[in-house]
Amino acid sequence: MTRIALFASGGGSNAENIIRYFQNHSSIEIACLLSNKKDAYALERAKNLEVTTYTFNRADFYESTVVLDILKKEKIDWVVLAGFLWLVPESLVEAYENKIINIHPALLPKYGGKGMYGEKVHEAVWQAQEKETGITIHYVNSHYDEGKVIFQATTALSAQDTPESIAKKVHTLEYEHFPKVIEKTVLEHS
Ligand code: GAR
Repeated sequence: MTRIALFASGGGSNAENIIRYFQNHSSIEIACLLSNKKDAYALERAKNLEVTTYTFNRADFYESTVVLDILKKEKIDWVVLAGFLWLVPESLVEAYENKIINIHPALLPKYGGKGMYGEKVHEAVWQAQEKETGITIHYVNSHYDEGKVIFQATTALSAQDTPESIAKKVHTLEYEHFPKVIEKTVLEHS
């Protein structure tokens, strides 16, 4: 079995969708979910689906081996960031070289970088009156949103769209594609 750890900071709707997709999978297992936020709803979603959860703080992540130790203990092969908002430290990127995948709710390199996450991205896309937006699934390096792109999908926007409707369209793309892209990438590189 290839073992995946999910990292999530917030609501965790993508995390839940991924957990459900891999339930009963023949070769890929969601082993645990880690969060930097003790009250992240993602933790509840994981527990409800019988996935082990862990939380960590800033010092654990940036100044210790706490997170790496958890990943080792859980025998994790791949890390998937599903709405995780902290920059991944170099030590983790090196330990899991080309084995960390992130999803970004826009068409990178547009609307990426520090501070560009979730609703802020959709607000910026709406302000700029973009004709399309989408999702980017990419490998993680130690710079925000700059790792090699694995997959992108687009959705058309109209003058009637709002930041809320844009978010909805993007989430639809995320739910449809993210689990399948994880599956394909993991199977091709394991
Ligand atoms: C998702 O739209 C994801 O693409 C985005 O956060 C949202 C989390 O939603 N990630 C980023 O913005 C990373 N820079 P969820 O918690 O409901 O899955």
